[in-house]
Amino acid sequence: MTGNNIAISIQNVKKSFGALKAVNGVNLEILKGEYVAMLGPNGAGKTTLMEMVEGIQKQDEGEILINGKTWKDHEDELHKLLGISLQETHFFDKLKVKETVKLFASFYAIGDERCSEILDLVNLQEKAEAFVINLSGGQRQRLALGIALINNPEIILLDEPTTGLDPTARREIWDILFKLKKEKNITMILTTHYMEEADYLCDRIVILDKGSILAQGTLDELLSKNESSEIIEFSIEGDNRSIQLPDGNGKKQLTYDAKTEKWQLLVDDIIAYLPLFLDEMKKQTKKIKTLECRKMTLDDLFIAMTGRRLNE
Ligand SMILES: Nc1ncnc2c1ncn2[C@@H]1O[C@H](COP(=O)(O)OP(=O)(O)OP(=O)(O)O)[C@@H](O)[C@H]1O
Ligand SMILES: [Mg+2]
Repeated sequence: MTGNNIAISIQNVKKSFGALKAVNGVNLEILKGEYVAMLGPNGAGKTTLMEMVEGIQKQDEGEILINGKTWKDHEDELHKLLGISLQETHFFDKLKVKETVKLFASFYAIGDERCSEILDLVNLQEKAEAFVINLSGGQRQRLALGIALINNPEIILLDEPTTGLDPTARREIWDILFKLKKEKNITMILTTHYMEEADYLCDRIVILDKGSILAQGTLDELLSKNESSEIIEFSIEGDNRSIQLPDGNGKKQLTYDAKTEKWQLLVDDIIAYLPLFLDEMKKQTKKIKTLECRKMTLDDLFIAMTGRRLNE
């Protein structure tokens, strides 16, 4: 790997707010053309890290290089390279969609032709004359994405571009991002709470928790890192809170989730352990309320690693 292939290099970056270590020593290199998803629970430090890459916040320690350059010495150059959409985008509600795009285009001295291209790209041509206040959530997010793309950026940084959208609106954003990857070989970091978004769109998933990278890789890599990759999830009638299960046949960690009132048992192989489980239930005269057997998901992996849920 040569330095020329690296779009973003984050080196031992730290940022505190008072005593709170929001980002606590992150090292991450993102290759040109790579799509990286940053997943993590609320308060993990995703936005803080993104904003440091965007030059909006300054790190206390460490270095961030974009195409080998720091914000300190190359501000104008980096602004031209990057496209940004913040976690919360505030538009002028009383401007029309077209006027909004034009306003942002004027910051870069970009002409009308590109504005029209952008409306095509994010499929908002029909809404060009609509007031921003009257856009749906999905249309608003597409407008934010269009604005992030206005300067034809090499690198885009999108903070939760699909949060709160229904599956159809989310898919529309995915299609645009997919097209960009294919046609423009753009580099992207996207933060999300949706595992399927990270899996579908991105080459690599980075899991951030309490300001540090907990794990990274493709979804398959992340899931295969944990030996136990299958789950028996169940609840029982009556006293659901105490249960004992025999060891052996690949039995691993057993945890109780008070929120869902379900037990989660990690096993090497469902087929090997399930008969033992069912026999035991019979022996203990327990009645099964729910029983689900499935492959481990990223959410399960996160629970196994931290005892907490990804989406809390
Ligand atoms: N300006 C600030 N002043 C004080 N604390 C802050 C500030 N910005 C962020 N924090 C704190 O830093 C931590 C990380 O916040 P951040 O917004 O980066 O998390 P996040 O991963 O983006 O969360 P979410 O998924 O909710 O968007 C949180 O505990 C947050 O309260
Ligand atoms: Mg955030």
